[in-house]
Amino acid sequence: MRLLSGSARLAGVTGWPVAHSRSPRLHGVWLNRHDIDGAYLPLPISPADLAHVIPALAKAGFAGLNVTIPHKISVMALCDRIDPRAARIGAVNTLVFTSTGIEGFNTDSYGFLANLRAHGVNPAAGPALILGAGGAARAIAAALQDEGAPVTVCNRTQRNAAALAAALPPGNVLPWEYRSAALGDYALLVNTTSLGMVHHEPLDISLEAANPALAVADIIYAPLETELLKAARARGLTAVEGLGMLLHQAVPGFKAWFGITPVVDDELYHIVSGG
Ligand code: ATR
Repeated sequence: MRLLSGSARLAGVTGWPVAHSRSPRLHGVWLNRHDIDGAYLPLPISPADLAHVIPALAKAGFAGLNVTIPHKISVMALCDRIDPRAARIGAVNTLVFTSTGIEGFNTDSYGFLANLRAHGVNPAAGPALILGAGGAARAIAAALQDEGAPVTVCNRTQRNAAALAAALPPGNVLPWEYRSAALGDYALLVNTTSLGMVHHEPLDISLEAANPALAVADIIYAPLETELLKAARARGLTAVEGLGMLLHQAVPGFKAWFGITPVVDDELYHIVSGG
């Protein structure tokens, strides 16, 4: 382990709670690998404290932060500048502290696209069906639209799907009960719901109607391979696991704070998945 100097670069992840976060481990691997004079810390900040602690960290010399639940929306009010894609998504997960203020970005969309490409999937190959309508669905829908893919949102509560589609026009909405039957019309299926995660209900979907060229992505990474991805692989479809999105979304922040573009590889995957 490298000892810090007085000019070490500092970054971290803030959430409430933050103890479950894999980001300190992930960034720690890269810091070690590049022998960087820097540290990446878990920073639990309560919602009530966020507005005064974030500017204080900027003043204390931090280079920036990752932001996770429940602060991704509320932190936007503390930014001096917000990247246009983050503004469109309506959430910020990466802060960069500069001499001219706090800049907010959303790297979830970048992470999703980079992970697809790492699996040989072209995001613009055709229409995408997104299951779920929460914050992750919104980042992924914006990313796919920016690549030129038509996006359809399919969610248990149709009102939430309609709200997402209205925020990102021209999004389409598919009633939840058609999620299996409509699959033949899509090049990409993305699960952004919590269904299939450990301690959650399974995702009830059949891939029978899938086009043979369908790629199936899940953003869940506990378990590393969900039942959905197992079913996709069993049918010979390309399966894209969620841990890769987490690893790739971390790249732009690390580059901004520590000045090196880190690489996502199998070693990183194994170290982070084992933590
Ligand atoms: P995020 O972290 O992406 O913001 P979230 O707001 O917790 O996540 O949303 C999780 C998604 O999983 C939602 O789309 C939710 O559907 P509703 O809008 O109907 O709540 C979906 N979800 C959670 N439990 C579900 C269930 N039992 N059946 C179907 N969808 C479910």
